[in-house]
Amino acid sequence: MANKSTGSTPITGALITGGGGFLGSHLAERYLRAGHPVIVVDNFCTGMRSNVEFLNQLAKEKATAFLAIEANVIEDWSTWSREIPKATLSKISHVFHFASPASPPLYQELAFDTLWVNTKGLERALAFADDLAARVIFASTSEIYGDPLITPQPESFWGNVNSFGYRSCYDEAKRFGESLIFTHNWKKKTHHGLVRIFNTYGPRMNPSDGRVIINFLTQALRSEPLTLYGDGSQTRSFCYVTDLVEGITRYAETKLIEPVNLGNDREFSLLELVEVIQTIFAPKKLELVHQALPHDDPRQRRPDLTTARTLLNAWAPQVQLKEGLIKMRAWLEADGLDSNKPKGDK
Ligand SMILES: NC(=O)c1ccc[n+]([C@@H]2O[C@H](COP(=O)([O-])OP(=O)(O)OC[C@H]3O[C@@H](n4cnc5c(N)ncnc54)[C@H](O)[C@@H]3O)[C@@H](O)[C@H]2O)c1
Repeated sequence: MANKSTGSTPITGALITGGGGFLGSHLAERYLRAGHPVIVVDNFCTGMRSNVEFLNQLAKEKATAFLAIEANVIEDWSTWSREIPKATLSKISHVFHFASPASPPLYQELAFDTLWVNTKGLERALAFADDLAARVIFASTSEIYGDPLITPQPESFWGNVNSFGYRSCYDEAKRFGESLIFTHNWKKKTHHGLVRIFNTYGPRMNPSDGRVIINFLTQALRSEPLTLYGDGSQTRSFCYVTDLVEGITRYAETKLIEPVNLGNDREFSLLELVEVIQTIFAPKKLELVHQALPHDDPRQRRPDLTTARTLLNAWAPQVQLKEGLIKMRAWLEADGLDSNKPKGDK
């Protein structure tokens, strides 16, 4: 089944589920800037309307076709997909299935939606793409490795995941999604792919998202103490969004079907992250408030990027943590801090 094909599938147009969210809006920005038509489909359960307003404005400036559709991608796609003009539809080469709550507080609040969007929603994305002979790229995650037994984590590590706990609605749904991509390709002779994304940060993340970097930055800007879960010795690796989008785009334009890790392989403990943020906010002195570690919180996260470097034309993350944090802070100060909040009401 392994397919090391280096054939290419150039992007000529993209449909992006979750395009009103953080990563989806950056993919949309990238392809609009390249002059390709983009359709985003989102129900804004965790995303932000301000992201779509930004994309609308950009599309006008670039005179590029752009359509934003408000819909739940778990449900029947035919109700809205027939609204897409034929000329735009014919250009869609890729369907990026990025819709899903992504942070633990939000995916636990929206647990059923999280299960279904990565399974039923993905099935609908595959059927839609097959009709257009387009390629699906599924947003998988480092969470499929669970609490890893080896570090850094290579794609060949099968994971150490609790299937019966508070994180399983996300972790196991993503694992099922990977299996669906594999089985679909196997049985239907297609070339859909998936990327395993490690912690990524940057502008246009919802301030209410709850992941560590956006939490720390919003708390620091509001002069609140930073909430540190556990003793801060747990590690994460943080990738700036433009590096990730470059990696996803290179992967999307191949015919690869196997999983590829994308992220940044520089590992930081959360206490080291606090130190970096402190240097940005000096002379303000940041305080910490400690809380218990959440259930099944992984101790370590660091991608083995050998596959990405080998198969994606020597792709490597470029943006240093401090540089990325400074850009994200600037966005939060200019536009982001008061961005609209997710409904989170399901
Ligand atoms: N950001 C990361 O570090 C990271 C890491 C690993 C994986 N991922 C994956 O990448 C994808 C995007 O994550 P993000 O960080 O941009 O999160 P996000 O919450 O900012 O974006 C997700 C978007 O999907 C939309 N959505 C959710 N369920 C939907 C549904 N049923 N129908 C339509 N739209 C729906 C949300 O409203 C939101 O706009 C997710 O699939 C996530 O699991 C992200």
